Amino acid sequence: MKKTILITGGAGFIGSHVVRLFVQKYPDYKIVNLDTLTYAGNLENLKDIENETNYTFVKADITNGEEMYQLFEKYNFDSVIHLAAESHVDRSIADPNAFIQTNVMGTANLLNAARKNWDGKYDGKLFYHVSTDEVYGSLGSTGFFLETTPYDPQSPYSASKAASDHLVRAYGNTYHLPFVITNCSNNYGPNQFPEKLIPLFINNIKTNKSLPVYGDGKYTRDWLYVVDHARAIDMVYHKGKQGETYNIGGFNEWQNIELIKLLCIKMDEMLGREAGESEKLITYIKDRPGHDRRYAIDANKIKNELGWEPSVTFEEGLTKTIDWYLTNDLWLKHVTSGDYQKYYSNQYIHN
Ligand code: NAD
Ligand code: DAU
Repeated sequence: MKKTILITGGAGFIGSHVVRLFVQKYPDYKIVNLDTLTYAGNLENLKDIENETNYTFVKADITNGEEMYQLFEKYNFDSVIHLAAESHVDRSIADPNAFIQTNVMGTANLLNAARKNWDGKYDGKLFYHVSTDEVYGSLGSTGFFLETTPYDPQSPYSASKAASDHLVRAYGNTYHLPFVITNCSNNYGPNQFPEKLIPLFINNIKTNKSLPVYGDGKYTRDWLYVVDHARAIDMVYHKGKQGETYNIGGFNEWQNIELIKLLCIKMDEMLGREAGESEKLITYIKDRPGHDRRYAIDANKIKNELGWEPSVTFEEGLTKTIDWYLTNDLWLKHVTSGDYQKYYSNQYIHN
């Protein structure tokens, strides 16, 4: 079936994998990638598909409500897969306003534009909102986040994502706008900006820089290979039930320090370094303010109802990821020049 799908944030980490999957798998769909290209947006992520006939890139800012109305009028989108966001917790601690503007107001602008353009004729329409497990807050040493877990966001980032989730559900309830929401755990893989734990540490090991571990390093995250998140989004988009929420996770919990030690061992092997060399770079530093202790997703709903499961083991995913960063030297060089150096020194050197 022919469809025109708006994917927002498609030049970012997860968005670029979603765009690639939809462009390649569904030649009948017209995919419009809307992205304002912040520091995290990078068209180099999509070089391999940029000339496909079913792909269009539009540079636009979701905080501009008028522009969103105009784009809906121009393209008559059948559905939206909304990923555009400010996504890094540390940046939200330093500057919450950008998160409130993009994640809350930007989502409201897209909802308003969809509502106006669709005008109550909802057949074949869908607003798919991509969210995070961080909206549920922090777990103790046991238990899991379920779709029914009450929201309890703890950082400006997670509060802004929670607000956007609430808006989507409110538009569903009030205006019957057809929607679906997914809340996913920590992603890793190729094309992730080196501010997040795994790519930051790969780059620092590669360049022999210290590895800044926050607090006692015993914080726990549930890691998922990014291509498996894109596969889940494909499945929920096509088979998910409207008005529902699905949690997505890797069934793969790691304490930060254990993950970092594994990364060091693997990188010593892959770089031909002496065993134990990279671990010497580990440095414990001041903790992140309000740091959530543990996230763990129960992903059994999407598994049982839609048949989704991760396809890549952590061992395979980590090897592919390290290999990608070691091979794509130029990509890393481009994203770590200029503003990145300023960010790095504010976050890790003068902090
Ligand atoms: P990212 O920071 O790599 O990419 C975000 C993209 O959004 C960038 O291309 C950026 O240019 C674009 N963008 C930002 N502000 C914009 C604006 N005002 N207008 C248009 N485009 C704008 O983020 P990511 O890690 O790929 O995350 C994508 C989505 O998935 C986010 O909504 C995030 O909350 C969610 N999520 C991320 C993770 C994760 O582990 N990274 C896990 C669960 C959910
Ligand atoms: O859970 C999903 C979320 O995962 C997404 O919604 C966010 O967009 C994404 O950024 C991620 O949030 P985290 O805060 O969990 O990811 P981050 O990579 O920043 O940190 C992972 C863990 O590593 C966390 O406990 C903090 C720690 N850490 C991180 C950095 C950058 C360090 O110890 N040192 C660091 O330098």
